[in-house]
Amino acid sequence: MSLKLETGYLKSFIGEDEYEAIQSQVTCAHELLKSKKGPGSDFLGWVTLPTDYDKEEFERIKVAAKKIQNSCDIFIVIGIGGSYLGARAAIEFMKSDKYNDLRKDTPAIYYAGNSLSSSHLSELVEICEGKDVCINMISKSGTTTEPAIAFRIFRELLEKKYGKEGAKERIFCTTDRAKGTLKHLADKEGYETFVVPDDVGGRFSVLTAVGLLPIAVAGIDIDALMAGARDAQHKYDDPDIESNDAYKYAAIRNILYRKDKTVEVLVSYSPRFVLMNEWWKQLFGESEGKNNRGIYPSSAVFSTDLHSLGQFMQEGTRMMFETTVLFDKRTRDFTIGFDPENVDGLNFLEGKKMSWVNKMAFEATVLAHTEGGVPQLVLECPDFTEYTLGEIIYFFEKACAISGYLLAVNPFNQPGVENYKKKMFALLGKPGYEAEREVLEAQIAKAQSEL
Ligand code: PA5
Repeated sequence: MSLKLETGYLKSFIGEDEYEAIQSQVTCAHELLKSKKGPGSDFLGWVTLPTDYDKEEFERIKVAAKKIQNSCDIFIVIGIGGSYLGARAAIEFMKSDKYNDLRKDTPAIYYAGNSLSSSHLSELVEICEGKDVCINMISKSGTTTEPAIAFRIFRELLEKKYGKEGAKERIFCTTDRAKGTLKHLADKEGYETFVVPDDVGGRFSVLTAVGLLPIAVAGIDIDALMAGARDAQHKYDDPDIESNDAYKYAAIRNILYRKDKTVEVLVSYSPRFVLMNEWWKQLFGESEGKNNRGIYPSSAVFSTDLHSLGQFMQEGTRMMFETTVLFDKRTRDFTIGFDPENVDGLNFLEGKKMSWVNKMAFEATVLAHTEGGVPQLVLECPDFTEYTLGEIIYFFEKACAISGYLLAVNPFNQPGVENYKKKMFALLGKPGYEAEREVLEAQIAKAQSEL
């Protein structure tokens, strides 16, 4: 069994003629992607990655993962954005959002360099005290401020603890094949390196060493993960939206967007999907949000958020649609017991599984939100296995590319992210940004004087 897009709940929002009308645009987007003639075509390495990856490096990742598992209690993954989210999302999806608290024979995994919070960083340093530590510094450019600062701190910590030679065995870098600050540093110090391919952008990089090394360290079967993605690569390659659910999802998003549904909420009923939500938000947000266009990607975990956002979703501004990622099999289940006194009045649920109660919450919510005017899409997934995860990753990546082309944007650049990075470099006093710094400081002074 594999993924299935359930579109039955959309009948009152999208007519059959609308699917027919958008098909030619989807075919055109498909051809742009296949012919590599669309915008951003230098970054299409992810399309064939599941079949076309570096097999030698893949084996080296497994060896490095074993070495890390055998030599540390704590593994720190340093990176931000596309150089962080995919790995964490996959680990939590496969293992648990409470991975570090589980009984296991793999190291605890912590994430650094994904914010500039000094308390977060110093807490991590404290957690590492008295423990054996390995680190994986991940940065395609090698110059991103957040991970660079964290790397400097953890490199010093490791060198102090193990000496330069000892630290060398515990530091793994994932970066550009040949160029950049991090690559030069790694070569100079003799750290083992892994490659972020030139033609794969950060948010599409989870199936490269960027994601695969941390994922393998967590004891996840990366062969099965790639197998799921590989089958998905073949499955989601048909331009016909009636036989390609990834393309149908992209088409539906755009049909709804053209009806002023400008926010998509990715919904899950499992806390272990929270980081997948974050990964998905980056994938779609960074790919589509440009040229004053795009669907704002948002997320929720139900039933938790039904008790916080539920009111808005039911009756607030009607600008959203929901896509629920629904799993058939749970990893574990509970059966609700019988209480002879029935003081909590729950005996009507005696013998019922928690997963069934959760499913009823889904059925009730879909009906209620449809009634409230929120279009409902459901992506049915069989289970929480590596194979399914590989398919989910590829499904969303392919859908994102097609959806971006339907929206007439370049889904593979991120000029807006660069803007903030440059301004921050200038304000921090990075050499080469002196002129911009003067302008920005004058702007800040003016704004403050007007307060
Ligand atoms: O998707 C992207 O391109 C970004 O999110 C980057 O991954 C993020 O900015 C980190 O960049 P780098 O890997 O160069 O440190």
